[in-house]
Amino acid sequence: MDADSYVDVPKDLLKEIERLEQLFSIDTAKLKQITDHFVNELEKGLRVGGGSIPMNPTWVMSFPTGYETGTYLALDMGGTNLRVCQITLTDQKSEFDIIQSKYRMPEELKTGEADELWEYIADCLMQFIETHHGDTAKLEKLPLGFTFSYPASQNYIDEGVLQRWTKGFDIAGVEGHNVVPMFEEALSRRGVPIKLTALINDTTGTLIASAYTDTKMKIGCIFGTGCNAAYMENCGSIPKLAHLNLPPETPMAINCEWGAFDNEHKVLPRTPYDEMIDRDSPRPGQQAFEKMIAGLYLGEIFRLVMVDLHDKQGTHIFDGQDISALRKAYSLDSSFLSAIEEDPFENLSETADLFQNRLGINPSKSELELIRRTAELIGTRAARLSACGVSAISRKKGYTSCHVGADGSVFNKYPHFKSRGAEALREILDWPEKTNPNEEDPIEILAAEDGSGVGAALIAALTLERVKAGNMHGILHPENFK
Ligand code: GLC
Repeated sequence: MDADSYVDVPKDLLKEIERLEQLFSIDTAKLKQITDHFVNELEKGLRVGGGSIPMNPTWVMSFPTGYETGTYLALDMGGTNLRVCQITLTDQKSEFDIIQSKYRMPEELKTGEADELWEYIADCLMQFIETHHGDTAKLEKLPLGFTFSYPASQNYIDEGVLQRWTKGFDIAGVEGHNVVPMFEEALSRRGVPIKLTALINDTTGTLIASAYTDTKMKIGCIFGTGCNAAYMENCGSIPKLAHLNLPPETPMAINCEWGAFDNEHKVLPRTPYDEMIDRDSPRPGQQAFEKMIAGLYLGEIFRLVMVDLHDKQGTHIFDGQDISALRKAYSLDSSFLSAIEEDPFENLSETADLFQNRLGINPSKSELELIRRTAELIGTRAARLSACGVSAISRKKGYTSCHVGADGSVFNKYPHFKSRGAEALREILDWPEKTNPNEEDPIEILAAEDGSGVGAALIAALTLERVKAGNMHGILHPENFK
């Protein structure tokens, strides 16, 4: 929006719009500086001693060929839903059949007792198997890929240790422990006929599922409740695995856990609102990058800005109105911001309705301008920062041309997220302007295949295959592979 749209906006609000623009805008030079630091931090995370980005080896040690076959179960423990799928990888190259059920993840489980969580999951799995296979007593154990999208030493079944909860989860007695035996105990208590074959991260699943149908796919990303990426490294470039003497050219998928980038606050242009988010989160000091990008936080950043402006001396917004609904932490999610950015009307009447219906606030015309601009700034910043991560992995690997598979609610639903990200990639990587609008960018971020369903099944298949070939790295229970 250019300054002309603000002709009628009162001075105090104009001043605030300008201040927010300064706080939230990230120019090309800054994007490049963040990317440079990001490349170093990715490398640091692979070294002994590490850095703030965990760079977890996942023990996914090849790309799929497209010729994997078999029937697998996949379980996805996401932030809002629990999804159980049965995937059959067919004889046709890159093809699969899928059946699935979703179960709501009760909010209270996210901060409750560990046992309750595992039992709830075991019950959902049992229900799924009973529905689709009938009598479980006679069933052979089905192989399962479990998508557990938190920073754990994923698929490294020796050490499926949860480093820390992210995305608002806070269940005692799980951090620092291996989640695999906890999960397996719940399965055996309930008599669920399953053998856990692979513990995976959603980003690794996304990478592998996307590469199954498109061999140009080199990076898998999630821009959803959380934000993270995975890519394929060579074992020879992972000094922290040197003691295993793996052949240097052997591939190893790395779950970066890049949400933790810049936890030491060296380069990210954090605003006072980002500081507030962090201070009041269950894990202050963690996930600095994620807290500026992920869907869990976008609406909250916006809410904090609005409350701050209302409470500020000399700034008049929502004067004399009851803003108690707006004061409730995490009451606005990223779909609220999406709706503001999507409002097609010049007078922002949909935004006005949204404020009225959801918050009981009647914004003035000028306040609506400020609301729209704030949403744009927060959404644009998230997309531009995401591009720093993608550029950093591409630079580290020397990829000048590839596809990046992306999934998650922000990527799929947030307006302009894709085009803003693509524009930032162009700036960071110094691509010339397109001569024809249909031309592909050298590095394209595209909608991914279903990582936590098909990806989990493929990783289970790849794990079974490599174990059969005698590669037992990262396998805690060889008996599950007989
Ligand atoms: C959080 C989790 C990470 C996951 C991401 C996207 O960052 O720590 O494991 O991949 O969210 O869901």
